[in-house]
Amino acid sequence: MVAQVIDGKAFAAKVRAQVADQVAKLKEQSGITPGLAVVLVGEDPASQVYVRSKGKQTVEVGMNSYEHKLEVDTSQADLLALIDQLNADPAVHGILVQLPLPKHLNEDLVINAIDPAKDVDGFHISNVGLLGTGQKSMVPCTPLGCLMMLRDHHGSLSGMDAVVIGRSNIVGKPMAQLLLGDSCTVTIAHSRTKDLPDVVRRADIVVAAVGRAEMVPGAWIKPGATVIDVGINRIDAPEKGTNEDGSVKTRLVGDVDYASAAQTAGAITPVPGGVGPMTIACLLANTLTACCRANKLPEPKGLTA
Ligand code: GUN
Repeated sequence: MVAQVIDGKAFAAKVRAQVADQVAKLKEQSGITPGLAVVLVGEDPASQVYVRSKGKQTVEVGMNSYEHKLEVDTSQADLLALIDQLNADPAVHGILVQLPLPKHLNEDLVINAIDPAKDVDGFHISNVGLLGTGQKSMVPCTPLGCLMMLRDHHGSLSGMDAVVIGRSNIVGKPMAQLLLGDSCTVTIAHSRTKDLPDVVRRADIVVAAVGRAEMVPGAWIKPGATVIDVGINRIDAPEKGTNEDGSVKTRLVGDVDYASAAQTAGAITPVPGGVGPMTIACLLANTLTACCRANKLPEPKGLTA
């Protein structure tokens, strides 16, 4: 069997179009423009790329984007003061503090200082608790994007066996909660899991989110299973030659060995172009959801968990 490719790039474009459409209606009917504030501390190059991309896409769907770039040595007190200011600002419906933060800042304290209703990352302890108890919450963007793609592909996920490889707070744990919420039988596997190949072989749905290049071979995948690859790993690609400075060219790969898994799986997300584009699309969806809730308006349909 050759797997169907789940096109995250096209799906994300569809989600953004839905968000843009609903933002336009919101503006027309109530005069409200959703606003997203993104806070970046320091100059981590990867974070700068993400933040630029978030700002651009926020404006493209008709929302206001507020970017706060702080020096790498910003104190915890100054960062918390900015969060207080954004919490109190009625034009700001979503707040995202880009992670990782410089080492001298306490990530838990900072995240938990965000008003949970504006926590569009879904990382605040209140949102984690609400998701875990099946109550209305803000849902982390990457797992929400994975869930949307799975629902789109399968319709109902009820009764399916799902394995989430990776137990991070950002992806693995919330992903497992969402799959449980959709009535899957969920296993969370991690670096200490005994006989990981056997655990993966039982799964109808495999979500790989460990951050290790191509660690899941096709031989582990049950024939016909759906594979969602969250990994984005840069590896050397000597077959592409060298750069001007003599260094070896690189390429992006997932946590799954795509070439072999695509021979066994029923459907698979590629890297790049799978889960990646869905994350920012879901951030925009969450910002619209937060704006609607703040203004006691009906929530956007199909854009929440
Ligand atoms: N850094 C990498 N991914 C994320 C994310 O989803 N949210 C935030 N705030 N920081 C990140």
